[in-house]
Amino acid sequence: MPLKKEKPVPPKKITKPVVEKVVEKKEKDEEEGGKSSKTFELLRGFRDILPEEQGRWNLVRDTVRSIAESYSFDRIDLPILERSDLFQKTVGKATDIVEKEMYVFTDPSNRSVALRPEATASAARAYISHGMLDRPQPVKMWYVGPMFRHDRPQAGRYRQFYQAGFESFGVDEPIVDAQLIVLGAQIFRELGLDIKVEINSIGTPECRQAYLAELTSYFRPHRNKLSEDDKRRLQKNPLRILDSKEEATLELLQGAPQILDWLDDKSKEHFMKVLEFLEEVEIPYVLNPHLVRGLDYYTHTVFEFVLAQDEGDKSQSALGGGGRYDGLIQLLGGRPTPGCGFALGLERIVRALDAKGVNPPERSKPSVFFAQLGDAARRVGLKLFEEFRRAGVPVVEAFGKSALKGQLESANKLGVQLTLILGQKEVLDGTIIIRDMESGAQEIVDVKKVVQIVKKKLHKEPAPAEAPVSE
Ligand code: HAM
Repeated sequence: MPLKKEKPVPPKKITKPVVEKVVEKKEKDEEEGGKSSKTFELLRGFRDILPEEQGRWNLVRDTVRSIAESYSFDRIDLPILERSDLFQKTVGKATDIVEKEMYVFTDPSNRSVALRPEATASAARAYISHGMLDRPQPVKMWYVGPMFRHDRPQAGRYRQFYQAGFESFGVDEPIVDAQLIVLGAQIFRELGLDIKVEINSIGTPECRQAYLAELTSYFRPHRNKLSEDDKRRLQKNPLRILDSKEEATLELLQGAPQILDWLDDKSKEHFMKVLEFLEEVEIPYVLNPHLVRGLDYYTHTVFEFVLAQDEGDKSQSALGGGGRYDGLIQLLGGRPTPGCGFALGLERIVRALDAKGVNPPERSKPSVFFAQLGDAARRVGLKLFEEFRRAGVPVVEAFGKSALKGQLESANKLGVQLTLILGQKEVLDGTIIIRDMESGAQEIVDVKKVVQIVKKKLHKEPAPAEAPVSE
């Protein structure tokens, strides 16, 4: 009897429980900014900086740039995408940034890359790869640009946020640390924000080793009081427990050994000198023995800029932070080179300006409106617009509107001083009407002379008497 061919059994579909599926979808939707809705929404933690916000942003960016230049920092632009191991090696594998918050993916060449969560590592990489050790030291560089951290979004904490950073490579003198702090404080002073500097020293990796052993043994008998997160920190990166926001840990921290007591003489001396310099230039500072910062590359001085009045949630109150990183260049394979720097969080600074009611206009308001009637007038208008622009007189228009009434309404809304009106008759006559928006007075002038006449009127100099052109 021939063998009966058995029908292949289709593989059993593995289905997930319904509840799990719903939760997953909700989280996915949230992450994707509501993918299921018809309109495209922003990804969580990402935001648009709208035209009406640009005034404050420009103020911050311009202040950063002018202060950077006055302290002889040179601008560097660094890529947004880097090899992911650059950050693992420097920021540290056991830090929140690397462990939980990095946007890591494999690029089409099968390389693991990351959207930069910060730029100090990139600046150090650039210092090595461009042989900057052979330039006069210190090499002082500044940058501004977006950083990416897949953190829990909330006010003052975004997944894409802008930093302006300052890095000084090659000199290990405490005055460098102090001058960087002064520079940061100067930016806040110019912006009219009242800040305080929180400062600490975490010494060298060697003296920290002994301290960490002491800290771990202090916490060991209290392990059961710690949250899972803090237990993990204690095991993987015990210094970070000083940064904990958990109430039970905060209580225990009051009796914990303090790193300042474990600094070696050189580290102590370095720190004392930084503080003396700050006193010299009257920068108010607060010693914060629990300030350790969330990145592994720091040595010696660490600091943060915090609003003077700020009593809010510590995790988002720092407007900026930084410190010394004497081992960073060597860690990346360069010759031992000291370094120090800090970065400011621009969203947080803009928010502080907003809270103070600071809102400068994005650009100076134009004083002239151009109104046209008909296609011929539009053609002349286009050329005239360029003439005004070249003469440095910004002109607004509403080329999309054709009725004079609507255009004059726009001019009124914009609060311009003068409106130029060009109709078919004026085009044929080679003239144009200038209307003073406040008095309503109108005069007809030679179109070839209008730029000069308008310039004079705007500078409140009496314009030469123009006979109405009627030929
Ligand atoms: P950081 O403390 O991680 O340091 O960041 C500096 C500043 O960036 C913070 O003080 C905060 O104002 C802002 N910032 C950080 N994360 C966010 C976020 N998720 N949303 C909004 N703003 C944020 C660094 O990045 C170091 N690279 C600084 C440095 C430069 N150290 C030496 N040189």
